[in-house]
Amino acid sequence: MQTDPFMPKAPPHIPAELIVPFDFRGDKEYSNDPHKRLDSLRDHHRAFYTPFPRGMGGQGVWVFTRAEDIRAVLKDPQTFASGGLRPFAKAIGEDWTLIPVDLDPPIHSQFRTLLNPVFSPKSMKSMELVILERAEEMTTALTDQKEVDFVPVFARPYPVSIFLELLGLPLDGMEDFIEIEENILQNSGDAQIAAIRQLRDYLAGQIDDRRRNRGDDLISFAVHAEVAGRPLTDDEVMGICVMMFIGGLDTVTSTLGYHFLHLARHPEEQQRLRNHPSLIPGAVEELLRVYNVVTTGRRATRDVEIAGVRIRAGDLLALPTTLASRDPNECPHASEVDLDRESAGHSAFGFGPHRCIGSHLARRELTAALTAWTTRLPMFRLKEATIPRSSGSGVIALESLPLVFL
Ligand code: HEM
Repeated sequence: MQTDPFMPKAPPHIPAELIVPFDFRGDKEYSNDPHKRLDSLRDHHRAFYTPFPRGMGGQGVWVFTRAEDIRAVLKDPQTFASGGLRPFAKAIGEDWTLIPVDLDPPIHSQFRTLLNPVFSPKSMKSMELVILERAEEMTTALTDQKEVDFVPVFARPYPVSIFLELLGLPLDGMEDFIEIEENILQNSGDAQIAAIRQLRDYLAGQIDDRRRNRGDDLISFAVHAEVAGRPLTDDEVMGICVMMFIGGLDTVTSTLGYHFLHLARHPEEQQRLRNHPSLIPGAVEELLRVYNVVTTGRRATRDVEIAGVRIRAGDLLALPTTLASRDPNECPHASEVDLDRESAGHSAFGFGPHRCIGSHLARRELTAALTAWTTRLPMFRLKEATIPRSSGSGVIALESLPLVFL
């Protein structure tokens, strides 16, 4: 029985004992330490229903907290669909789709087959030089600083600059892109809608240009590609470009934030990476395992039972990848960073058909950033009296991260 009059109502088919009023967008403990807060939910519930909506829609969600259940849902796209859950285009009265995340099989696989080679380890090797250059330029600019707010100064612009390169867009658009990104991903209402329009208009111009002037970039590739024996429509090219914007910026920014927060709080580990840079790629994997940032969503396509709870067709699910690789059932001392851990695998890039296509690019970005900071800049720690705050129901992000150089 719900007693709080301010709590949104759960639909009648949800058993009262499974209702936990957890608000991804307003929970104080989540804001103070999202990873710990999600762990505490898992300690008490294998699955629960929160009547608080998580995204743009107004519906509550089932939350699954164990690795085995999260994996099972993400690997079953027939029962748990991804399509139609991210109404970006609808918000501006259009109907293109984010490709490929907002598609379901079999169409999803056609687009993955098209895009996979573009993001393969081999293709991403060609981005290596640009990534290293950006990491070095941006750290060189900090050499005389005594302190820095890591989020606006490094973690946000760095992946934006790499995204611009990937899409063949001019670097002088950087400031505009950062503003658009902040408005789309962290704002709501009119500001968010205006930013989606601004992004769409800008990209439409670029897509039109690439039809006439083919370049060596992702937009040119998409404009001249074929899927199922036909060329892509402008809407499909738009869906791919906006997807890279949504998928490849905030995720890297917030991942960097938690990795650097951890190293700022653990000087002995930071020093170890400085002394032994060869440990950095392994450290990136372990940090990715402990500090996952994405909670993704699915919609049940039929009535189904999972983790002992009955889900009805149309119910929404929230799957915190954050919890999957911190699950003590699958990994000892799962919530602790251990740089000597034998590779434990992790869920930071998801599971199943929608597993992150940008994982190879992301790994290169994270490794280059950590290498540049630990080889070119002095030791850093968290500025005194700072309490880092997090927000975000889809991608958890630090709002700011003031660091002091020693
Ligand atoms: C540390 C950084 C990143 C993290 C933690 C991350 C995480 C994820 C996760 C968990 C998914 C699965 C979503 C789902 O199942 O609903 C995903 C999908 C995706 N990611 Fe990433 N991502 C990162 C970086 C990137 C980058 C750099 C790009 C590209 C530029 C990218 C592009 C995509 C795309 C296109 C998808 C959708 C794939 C599909 O639906 O088939 N991501 N990402």
